Amino acid sequence: MFNVSSLSLPAYLIMAEEPSKQAAEPPAVANLSLAETANAGIVGDKTKAVEQHIDPWSVSAAVDEQGNTLSFDYEAISKKWSTSLIDQALLDRFERLTGHKPHRWLRRGLFFSHREFNLILDRYEKGQPFFLYTGRGPSSGSMHIGHTIPFAFTKWLQDVFDVPLVIMLTDDEKFLFKENITVEDAKKFADENAMDIISMGFDQKKTFIYSDFRYIGGHFYENSVEFSKLLPFNQVRGAFGFDNSTNTGRIDFPSKQCAAAFATSYPHIWGDDPDGNRQKKTAAIPCLIPCAIDQDPYFRLLRDNSHRMKNPSPKAALIHSKFLTALQGPGGKMSASDPTSAIFMSDSKKDVQKKINKFAFSGGRATMEEHRQFGGNPDVDVPFQYLTYFLDDDAEIERLRTAYKSGEMLTGEMKQYCIKVMQDYVEDFQTKRKQVTPQILKEYMTPRRLQWGGNPNPVKPAAPIQAQSGKKSSKSKTSSTPATPAAQSESQSEAASQPASLPSGGNLPAVIAASTNAPVTSETTMAELVQRLDLDSVGSLAAQPVLPVLASAQPNHSLAAAQDGGTK
Ligand code: TYM
Repeated sequence: MFNVSSLSLPAYLIMAEEPSKQAAEPPAVANLSLAETANAGIVGDKTKAVEQHIDPWSVSAAVDEQGNTLSFDYEAISKKWSTSLIDQALLDRFERLTGHKPHRWLRRGLFFSHREFNLILDRYEKGQPFFLYTGRGPSSGSMHIGHTIPFAFTKWLQDVFDVPLVIMLTDDEKFLFKENITVEDAKKFADENAMDIISMGFDQKKTFIYSDFRYIGGHFYENSVEFSKLLPFNQVRGAFGFDNSTNTGRIDFPSKQCAAAFATSYPHIWGDDPDGNRQKKTAAIPCLIPCAIDQDPYFRLLRDNSHRMKNPSPKAALIHSKFLTALQGPGGKMSASDPTSAIFMSDSKKDVQKKINKFAFSGGRATMEEHRQFGGNPDVDVPFQYLTYFLDDDAEIERLRTAYKSGEMLTGEMKQYCIKVMQDYVEDFQTKRKQVTPQILKEYMTPRRLQWGGNPNPVKPAAPIQAQSGKKSSKSKTSSTPATPAAQSESQSEAASQPASLPSGGNLPAVIAASTNAPVTSETTMAELVQRLDLDSVGSLAAQPVLPVLASAQPNHSLAAAQDGGTK
C-alpha cells in the first residue's frame, strides 16, 4: 500500500525499514544523510499513486494508481515512525493501576499509538511525579470538533491521574506558518481558543494555559535557547521538510514546542524560584503528551535530544490519536480554514444539521433498493465514524454498525442519529463556554503554583538495605505527589534529608541513575544506563563517596527505582 516513489515527504516517511529490524526508536534524524532529508517534488511521477503524508501543518491520505483516495493507514504510520501500538495488555494494566475503565477512545482504538506510556504507568504506580502537556495552534476564533478530541481526552487523563497539566497556545507558530495572520490576530485567537479549552472542564487548580507570545521568557526561554543549540538544521529539515526559502522563525519554532515539555519551563508550578536557576530535580520530572499523530515529528526531535540538556530530562512520553475525519470522508483531516470540512464548536444547531446532511460522506449505496440488498459500509461512513467518537455506549455502536452493514439502517437514518448527537455535543459545549468570563480566563493563564494529588495508593518500594550507619530510615517515603504545594515542598526537603540507602541490586546502577536523573524502569538495562551517562555530571561526582550522591538524587525518580535494584 505504501508507495515510496513519491518523494515530497519528510525523511521519516520515506525510510522503508523491515519492522523486525526496527529499534525501539527510529534512526535519529541527525544520522540521516542530506539525500535522505532532501525534499524532492513528485512532479513527473508516472503513476497517479501518492504516498500518505502527515506533518503538523498538512496531512493527506494515500492515493492509489487509479487516483482513489484511501483511508489513512495508521498501522503503517506507527511502523514507519516506530511508535508502539496500544494493545489490550497495556489497557488492562492501565485499568488495574488506576481503577478506571479505559476511555472509549482507547477501547475503540482511536487513541491507537504511544511512546513509553508504560513508563508513565510505572511512575503512577510508584507515586512518582509527572505532568501532562498538550497544546493548540490558534489559527481561528473557534476550534472544530477534531481539536476537542485531544483536549477531552487530556481532561479525562487529568481526572484519572490527578496531575498538573500545561496547555501551550502556539500563537507564534500560527503567525509564522500562516500567511494572512497578524501577531494581533494570533493573540486574539489564542484567548478565544483558551476560553474554548477551559469549557472542556479542566480543573483550574491543576491547569496552566499560556500563549507563547505572552509567556515565553525566563526559564522557558533559557530551555528553548539551550535546546535550539542542540538542534542542527538538518534534524529540523529531516523532520519537517523545510528548505532554503523557509523563514528562520519557522526553523526555530520547533525548539519552543519541544522546550514546553521540560518541567523547568514552569518554575512556578513546582515552587521553584523563577528568578534563580533552573533546578536539576525539576528537570527530571517527565511529561506525557496527548495529541493526534501529526504532532509526533516535533517530539521525535525532543526525544532525540532531551538527555543532552545541561539538566537532562527524561524522554517525553506520548499518546497519539487518529484524526477525526473531515466531513468529506476518509483521507481528509478537518481544517480550520475550510468551513465545509468541519463542524465548529461555534456552529448553530442548524449549521450542524446542514453540514452533516450536505457534506458528510456516506458509506451507503446509490439507491435505497441496493442499500437494503447489499448493506452500507460503516467503515467509511462519516456519520457513523463520528458516532464512534461521541457515543459512549459500546453496545449501541455495535447495534448501529450491524444494522447499517445489513442494510436495515439507511444513510438518512444514520445521518439523523449523528446530527442529534453532534448538536447535543456542540450545545453542551456552548452552554459551558458562555460561563467562561475574562476573569476566569485570567486565572487559568496566570503563572502560579498548581495543586494536585497524584496516585492515592502508590505501591511501596521494596524495603531498602540500610546504609552503613545502620540507622533505620525514620520514614520510608512512598506517598504520591502531595496534594498541596506546602506539603509538596515539605516532602522534597524531607526526602533530601533522608539517610541514603544502598540499592539491593548493587550500587553501580543506582549511582549512574542518580547521576543521569533519568527514569529507571523494569525494562532498563545496564547497557542503556551506561549509554545515558552524562559524562560532565559524572565527572563532577567522580571524587565523591557514593552515599551522598545517592542521597542527593531526585527522591521520587531515579533513586526510588534504583532502590528496587535498578533493573527490577
Ligand atoms: P493544532 O491546533 O493543529 O491541533 C490541536 C490538537 O488537535 C489535534 N488535532 C486533531 N485531533 C483529532 N482529529 C483531528 N481532525 C485533529 N486536528 C488536529 C492535534 O494533533 C493537536 O493535538 N503545534 C500544535 C500546538 C501544540 C501542541 C503541543 C499540540 C503545541 N504543543 C503539544 C499537541 C501537543 C498545533 O498547531 O495543534
